[in-house]
Amino acid sequence: MSGHETYLLDRTRTAASHTLEVYRASGGYQTIERVLKQPITPLEIIDEMKASGLRGRGGAGFPTGLKWSFMPDRATDQRPRYMAVNADESEPGTCKDRVLMEEDPHGLLEGCLIAAWAMGLEGVYIYIRGEYLECHRRMQGALDEARAAGLVGSDILGSGFSCEINVHPGAGAYICGEETGLMESLEGKRGPPRPKPPFPAGFGLWGNPTTVNNVESIFNVPFIIERGAEWFKNIGVDTSPGNFLCGISGHVEKPGVYELPLGLSAKTIVEEFAGGVWQGRQLKAWIPGGSSTGFVAGSLIDTPMDHNSIKAIGSMFGTGAMVILDETACIVEASLVLARFYEHESCGQCSQCREGTQWLTQILARLESGAGTLEDVDMLEHIAGGMTPGKTICALSDAAAIPLQVALSHFRGEFEAHAGAGCCPVTDQSKVPVTDQSEVKAQP
Ligand SMILES: Cc1cc2nc3c(=O)[nH]c(=O)nc-3n(C[C@H](O)[C@H](O)[C@H](O)COP(=O)(O)O)c2cc1C
Ligand code: SF4
Repeated sequence: MSGHETYLLDRTRTAASHTLEVYRASGGYQTIERVLKQPITPLEIIDEMKASGLRGRGGAGFPTGLKWSFMPDRATDQRPRYMAVNADESEPGTCKDRVLMEEDPHGLLEGCLIAAWAMGLEGVYIYIRGEYLECHRRMQGALDEARAAGLVGSDILGSGFSCEINVHPGAGAYICGEETGLMESLEGKRGPPRPKPPFPAGFGLWGNPTTVNNVESIFNVPFIIERGAEWFKNIGVDTSPGNFLCGISGHVEKPGVYELPLGLSAKTIVEEFAGGVWQGRQLKAWIPGGSSTGFVAGSLIDTPMDHNSIKAIGSMFGTGAMVILDETACIVEASLVLARFYEHESCGQCSQCREGTQWLTQILARLESGAGTLEDVDMLEHIAGGMTPGKTICALSDAAAIPLQVALSHFRGEFEAHAGAGCCPVTDQSKVPVTDQSEVKAQP
């Protein structure tokens, strides 16, 4: 497939695309100007966002317009209100928000301003992954330019509407990307998530109404308001409209971030955009949307990349970040790599997650070393079942358990082949020591 309509990355193909001059030359900030000067009412904007069907790009796919409509009515609730833009981007495999912030920071700022007008926000905080130094530098530079041009702060463009925008560096923890952990971190504390309810729209930053949205979600806003919900709905599929940024990595010839319509088959993405599985090898497994969505069998690569189609094969669309594994990869080893990540990132508040992530790591390490048993495979399934769904304060527990459940449902035979094998039957353990002996010896 080629020649599909693009819009998200169009400006990034221009030199100095991060500057106000280039952004303005491409029509930038004209939408917020029109919104404020006509004016287009906040309700009209929220209705247009709802009509567009945009689904959040941060992982859960929640409709953005609907989320905005949860903010309390100003007539009955005079507390200050905020938006936190989730730029923590820590889900393994995901690297799309980075491109937008580095190459087109003003696009994100214009999206924030329209959201601010629609929800009557006093302030917007862009919480940027701590390691993303260049994103932080570019976003701060764009913010300084926009403020100097009267686009941010008080009385924006002489409209009487005021809104502050701040960029804030993240704390270097995956859990600070979970929306309530992010708010704790923004408030200057450690980032263990808060129990919900109350939800952020009622009790968010400093106890005030708050909306949390992903960078790519907000980046779509100026396009939808400028071109209309009907235009947006004509791209993608009915249940998942629009384009998405597909970060594709792993065993492909051309890893990268591609702008594609939702509903395109994963096979087309791998073969036509990412140059196929590298070195002419066979596809073994693929992760549809970031590490939390699990290893799906290569035979399902014809599946369309949209929320409902990926759900129908037992996984999730997540962040749309595909990871490709070729025929030489070991699913047990790959599951162990992910399990270690989740064990490390669990904040420890919930016993299912705190203990479960450690047990999964220990059993997977034992299996991968060839010292595990068939009971270990059953035990993995049992422990993962105790960690999900929705049994804990936040979804990290699910994010740790679901990939393993997906892997077991597609590759159970490979897990069982490791039992009592004395070494990994897929990779050569004598060449690649992937296990930590202290993990292997631990007895969950
Ligand atoms: C452990 C964990 C980590 C998360 N990390 C991120 C992240 O880095 N970026 C993000 O946008 N959403 C992340 N989320 C999802 C957010 O909680 C939230 O749903 C999202 O920011 C909402 O944005 P959206 O509605 O625009 O998709 C994470 C969720 C969990 C459970
Ligand atoms: S699920 Fe895990 S990360 Fe989330 S609050 Fe509980 S212990 Fe912390």
